[in-house]
Amino acid sequence: MRPPGEHTSGGSGVQVGEVRIEHHRDALGIGESEPRLSWSVRAPDGWSQHAYEIEVTDPGTGAAWSSGRVADADSCLRCWPAGPLRSRDRRSVRVRVWGPPTGPPSPWSAPVTLEAGLLQAADWTARWVSPASAAPAAAAGPAFLLRRDFAVGGPVRRARAYATAHGVYELELNGQRVGSQVLAPGWTSYHHRLRYQTYDVTALLRAGANVIGAYLADGWFCGRIGFQGGVRNLYGDRTALLLQLEVEYEDGTAETTVTDASWSAAPSPVIGAGLYDGETYDARLERPGWSEPGHAVAGWLPVETLEEKPAHLVAPTGPPVRAAQTLRPVSVRIKPSGRMLLDFGQNISGRLRIAVNGQAGQRVTLRHAEVLEDGELGIRPLRTARATDTYVLRGGGAERWEPRFTTHGFRYAEVSGWPGKMGQADITAVVYHSDLERTGWFDSSDGLLNQLHENVVWSMRGNFADLPTDCPQRDERLGWTGDLTVFAPTAAFLFDCYGMLASWLADLAAEQQRFGTVPYYVPWIPQQAFPFGPTAVWGDAAVLVPWALYQRSGDLALLRSQYPSMTSWADQVAKLAAESGLWDSGFQFGDWLDPSAPPDHPADSRTDKYLVASAYHVHTLEIIARVAALTGATGDHERYSSLAGRARRAFAVRFVRRSGRMTSDSQTAYALAVQLGLLAPGRQRAGAGRRLAELVRAGGFRIGTGFVGTPLICDALTTAGYVDLAYQLLLQTDCPSWLYPVTMGATTIWERWDSMLPDGRINPGQMTSFNHYAFGAVADWLHRTVAGLAPAEPGYRTIAVRPRPGGGLTRAAARHRTPYGIAEVAWERDGHTLNLSVTAPPGTSAIVSLPSPELTETVAGPGHHRFSCAYRPAADDPGQVPADGRTSRSG
Ligand code: BGC
Repeated sequence: MRPPGEHTSGGSGVQVGEVRIEHHRDALGIGESEPRLSWSVRAPDGWSQHAYEIEVTDPGTGAAWSSGRVADADSCLRCWPAGPLRSRDRRSVRVRVWGPPTGPPSPWSAPVTLEAGLLQAADWTARWVSPASAAPAAAAGPAFLLRRDFAVGGPVRRARAYATAHGVYELELNGQRVGSQVLAPGWTSYHHRLRYQTYDVTALLRAGANVIGAYLADGWFCGRIGFQGGVRNLYGDRTALLLQLEVEYEDGTAETTVTDASWSAAPSPVIGAGLYDGETYDARLERPGWSEPGHAVAGWLPVETLEEKPAHLVAPTGPPVRAAQTLRPVSVRIKPSGRMLLDFGQNISGRLRIAVNGQAGQRVTLRHAEVLEDGELGIRPLRTARATDTYVLRGGGAERWEPRFTTHGFRYAEVSGWPGKMGQADITAVVYHSDLERTGWFDSSDGLLNQLHENVVWSMRGNFADLPTDCPQRDERLGWTGDLTVFAPTAAFLFDCYGMLASWLADLAAEQQRFGTVPYYVPWIPQQAFPFGPTAVWGDAAVLVPWALYQRSGDLALLRSQYPSMTSWADQVAKLAAESGLWDSGFQFGDWLDPSAPPDHPADSRTDKYLVASAYHVHTLEIIARVAALTGATGDHERYSSLAGRARRAFAVRFVRRSGRMTSDSQTAYALAVQLGLLAPGRQRAGAGRRLAELVRAGGFRIGTGFVGTPLICDALTTAGYVDLAYQLLLQTDCPSWLYPVTMGATTIWERWDSMLPDGRINPGQMTSFNHYAFGAVADWLHRTVAGLAPAEPGYRTIAVRPRPGGGLTRAAARHRTPYGIAEVAWERDGHTLNLSVTAPPGTSAIVSLPSPELTETVAGPGHHRFSCAYRPAADDPGQVPADGRTSRSG
């Protein structure tokens, strides 16, 4: 694991790295008029920034602004130094920095360009247009084509398409696909917020005749969504497109083409497209050249314009969903029926791309599944999601196809109807997820542990597709709040998901306001699966997700914007707990999926669900009290602190004896009490820790926790002084455990500890996914405690380096792209010595605590550092595991 870009340049050896605009990866079409700017610096060890200068230029006019030299050591989220951006304004930004006050500045950074989107509703002159025949369909509805001719009358300086849809869309301009994002505009709470996308289409235009067109399908807007049959037409019963194409000529004049009554529409070859069910494409129905000039428009009908105003359009804050990589099959088995069974070696969220040759009308059918059972696709876990794509050949030559408006969670595919012999490169799996920047890595001497971590990363990829979902395969794929509550700290380490989750949290707040509480998933689908009402851990996402993002980013903005949502959640629960200070009423998911719960009663946990609810109530109140203090809401700080004190006392009286024994004698109960600080110091705390250790030993180091206890248990054992037991639990391979799925060949984190039973059968429960990230929340402990890299201060301005080796590991390392640059911790054991290397990026310092009783904490400044201390050899660890080279079983 080598940090990238460890070189320096420029006279002083100091170089400003990439300048970031807010939390955007690509700052085209942003919604902020005064975006904050951040940068990292590459510099010699010990260097620190004393001042900076930001220069902003308008590439069109050459006008420039400068912050002047600002004496400030921070390089994150610095104020916009120029006038507020207006819609469409384009700017170029560069930064330089000073170290010692007397020295020269660094060279200027490379310039980065940003451009505002349409910031006002009044910027939209386009009207919503709908294909006249887009009537509600029975199952997966068809996609339509929409098009409009327009002329380009001179040399073009820049051209932008701003677009969104009721449904999902893909644009084409002069026969070329516009952009690379899929399933635009993504899924938000459309009643409140609908994202539009901005595309740079300058290079696609030609002088003279041009055509802009779109595919338009149901998507989340009116397609089937939700479990137990789900609902259709959640937001409306017809698809529609809103598009504005703005062309700016070199001579300064401009021309705009918008969706209006002059557009026409026609049926497309996509005769059915459902997010769950898959897509059917009849290539015989293609309209060659439909998005090019000169296409004969016979059979096209005028669109209908809708009255709706574009009032709630917002610019995206996170990156779109894109193809991330492609996978070739690792094996192809031909069954006696002639069907082919393909294994892509990795459970993903995505779809297949085919290249085929055959006769017109031949049908190729692609079915998808995450696992095999008895050598066949295991499709029962998909419930009612058909997950089937069908391609009907046009005939007469090479044909290439990939569905547009669906994705599937799969590792295996069954292909039937393939004409002739399939070639090596004829089918590839394409992985899709939000195009987030990877920011976190982990590695160790244990192959199974590394595979577990890899599985966590893959489950995040599979479920961070525009919104954070529970799973990518069955008829669900919803933004379940509780799953993210427990996974957010891990997520925020692995990828930069601030922008994406900020959007989801805005939806959470909107739905909370609309429905009177934080719903179980966001966006919410009103249906009656569970009694509706406030529920701990799930609803606590309102507080704990923004808090986790603040820890990793140091950005208070989200805490500020989510503050009303946080406080209204806490106030609602505080009202429910008014009598006793306990949250002891109403429906609760509790320690969901405790391994002792029967397959069809996942909420039947060993831990009192009101103990869980009351513990989380204390926790969220304490966090809100801290947020109030951080944001200057002093009155609130006092009020929430006092509510937290009351809830904490009530918790102690109701659930904990003086000895530390708890009313629920379960691992989750003790993990909550120890880790959330709910115990009196001394006897009670020690007693609870001891009991937790006893239970973990008595359980034979098999996992005994569900959604709530699992993210906490290793931390709780560490806090209570039993880190060796945490390692034994972590490295257990018998079922249930974190590594059991790895030994079964898992390539993602499973929903259940035993989604696949040891005999290879699929768990009989009706809710059995093989790609659910919640239990992967242990990765946060791997990063912070096994490797020893954590923020000591929000945003990693100070880094806590606190590795706690064990489990026979001979080395471990973590790396994180902090807001200031790459931080890295790596340790290895050499006999009785532990060697540690630490990298703290410029602008930060590290508090290093070595795992040796004689050594106290050391503060290390920016740069690379090495430490060593005496340590027991790996062979002396309880629960010692084989060292390097262990690999997981596959298959
Ligand atoms: C989902 C979850 C969710 C749970 C809550 C399941 O159907 O997949 O992960 O948190 O329900 O009950």
